[in-house]
Amino acid sequence: MRVLGIESSCDETAAAVVDDGGVVISDVIASQFAVHAPYGGVVPELAARAHLSNIAPVVQQALAALPRGLDDIDGIAVTRGPGLLGALLVGVCAGKSLAWSRNLPIVFVDHLVAHLLAVFLVRDGMQSEVPEFPFIALLASGGHTAIYEVRAHDDIELVGQTRDDAAGEAFDKVGKLLGLGYPGGPRIDKLAAQGDARRAPLPLPMPSTTRLDFSFSGLKSALARRIEVDGPPADPQALADLCAAFQHSVVEVLVQKSVAACTQRGIPRLVLAGGVAANAGLRRRGAELCTSRGVRFFVPPLASCTDNAAMVAYAGHLRLSRGERDPLDAMAYSKSADRLRGKILAR
Ligand code: KG4
Ligand code: ZN
Repeated sequence: MRVLGIESSCDETAAAVVDDGGVVISDVIASQFAVHAPYGGVVPELAARAHLSNIAPVVQQALAALPRGLDDIDGIAVTRGPGLLGALLVGVCAGKSLAWSRNLPIVFVDHLVAHLLAVFLVRDGMQSEVPEFPFIALLASGGHTAIYEVRAHDDIELVGQTRDDAAGEAFDKVGKLLGLGYPGGPRIDKLAAQGDARRAPLPLPMPSTTRLDFSFSGLKSALARRIEVDGPPADPQALADLCAAFQHSVVEVLVQKSVAACTQRGIPRLVLAGGVAANAGLRRRGAELCTSRGVRFFVPPLASCTDNAAMVAYAGHLRLSRGERDPLDAMAYSKSADRLRGKILAR
């Protein structure tokens, strides 16, 4: 079964085709970085408008990988949320239109579930190592930061989550404070590699590993207070040291709590998901602590960690191939309250 996935929850317009076994046939992404960069963050109205221009060409390009295009598609999967409402509606309407016009089955997919299952995607014919169930997953992106226990494709429990900013959001806000532009995450990561965290130490936010929730806004304020009088360090080494200190504090709590979740639940498998998985410090420290605690560490290829439609197609494929379908008149918007109760919606 070949499934067309559509993703438009934030600032990437994406479409992909995924075949049985999670094999990625095409994976197309139109990024909106340039649209939002002047504002230092994603502007919801502009995101929705950019999705409107991008959605048709992106879907066309994803389908161009198939000999007969849309005729070779057996079902459609679309991100239903969470995300920016105006942005989501563009993808949902595109998916519904295609499903209706071709009488194809459609399912609406939770964006977070799609992230958590992206580790199973097979890209370029290469199957990277995949975990067995259950596993612990750390999902850290610009919009979400949480730890989950993934017991099966459709049995996922929220273990802990941020109480305020997402980790990627904290990177981006600090990048803005330091005058590094948007998105701050990759730039801080690069500078941190040349810095020494010990020369500009910052506190570890909510470090206790008995509680598996996160909080990053206090760390951001601590850094803001440090630079409020003199502004960001003019000396390149001092700037790199400050980036290293901030990154160290974020990475340390992400890794410590994720590994603590593995230990507390007796599950020696940790999977990374979300755009912050690109962070070199997080990968290095994650590998180090996992090795020392006997936990296997799975880091999917970056294309599977950041927002993409292949993960949406895969999560939808699992449901469609079980014969599940969603009605075309479905609201197709998942409420965050569903997640806050503990279990997250797996469909
Ligand atoms: O998953 P993603 O592509 O989009 C969503 O937010 O859903 O993640 C983007 C986030 C941004 O906040 C970006 O700054 C962060 O991931 N990010 C990084 C790095 N690369 C991307 N954060 C830290 N270090 C990086 N190398
Ligand atoms: Zn995402």
